[in-house]
Amino acid sequence: MRTLALALCLAVSSAMAERAPPLVIAHRGASGYLPEHTLAAKALAHGMGADYLEQDVVLTRDGVPIVLHDIYLDATTDVASRFPGRARDDGRYYAIDFDLVEIRQLEAGERRQPDGSLAFPERFPAGRSGLGVPTLAEEIALISGLNRSRGRHSGLYIELKAPRFHRRQGQDIARRVLDVLRDTGYAERRDDVFLQCFDDATLRYLRHDLRTPLPLIQLIADNRWGENSAVDYDHLQSDAGLAAIAEYADGIGPWLMQIYRGRDAKGRPQLSDLVARAHALGLAVHPYTFRRDQLPPGITSFDELLDLFIGQVGVDGLFTDFPDLARGYIDTHVDARTEARPTP
Ligand code: G3P
Ligand code: CA
Repeated sequence: MRTLALALCLAVSSAMAERAPPLVIAHRGASGYLPEHTLAAKALAHGMGADYLEQDVVLTRDGVPIVLHDIYLDATTDVASRFPGRARDDGRYYAIDFDLVEIRQLEAGERRQPDGSLAFPERFPAGRSGLGVPTLAEEIALISGLNRSRGRHSGLYIELKAPRFHRRQGQDIARRVLDVLRDTGYAERRDDVFLQCFDDATLRYLRHDLRTPLPLIQLIADNRWGENSAVDYDHLQSDAGLAAIAEYADGIGPWLMQIYRGRDAKGRPQLSDLVARAHALGLAVHPYTFRRDQLPPGITSFDELLDLFIGQVGVDGLFTDFPDLARGYIDTHVDARTEARPTP
């Protein structure tokens, strides 16, 4: 038994040593500590050593890419009190119904559920934050400025949100994002930018029509979420689906529960073969979302979660609200192991 355990340990060590350390992708910035997608959350994530900072992007009425997770403003800003009467019939305040000059008047805060309760009650205090909703261009200026002033590099990891919705509103979000990247000098910088999307047609459009050279990541949702009724996410995880992705994208961004499926009756983690099948096709795997305050069933600590995904599964990166914890884990367990590896 001990021999088997040692062999398993060596195999894990070997797998970790052979792969590059996984990328730390700060999910909506250091959103475990500050309101998501504010410039403060991005600056903190940069200081915490994230390899990439994530930007979810939607468009304003005047076509400006802003950094916001939802197509709505009401879950993370004070839009309802500042612009009463501007909701649509469904009660939501759509970012695309507001010009940038109006967006600039909003204050951003911790995410709230539809019933008004905080999504993560233990996080940054609710109330006045003095923080706003940045444009994509403003956020890029912040990041490139910090790259220079700190002498330490973080890249961009941009998600195009709801491209089909934007198209129905008469807007082409893919073009608008590439325009900003061109204007900021990032359009060709393969090492500095990932583009991600839940919509496969938009990724194909980016690759084949708009001809971006930037690496593309196909996000994979769960069909039950209703993320995008035009896409079958079960099919995308099949061999045929992954092979199709490999034709236009460089990697996948699956939900972490598509890799770890809980524990069996004996307490053993149940792992899918999604990562192995993606790797066999040359696809990188960057799962989401790793949260200290929202652990999956059967996982009792954040380090245990990282042990599983980094030590055992071998993912190439991960989206986390807590980039400091992931950075600390990798620097301790992965980089040290790589440095200690004997020269062949
Ligand atoms: O983009 C990866 C992950 O962020 C996808 O989930 O809903 O947080 O954008 P979401
Ligand atoms: Ca995202």
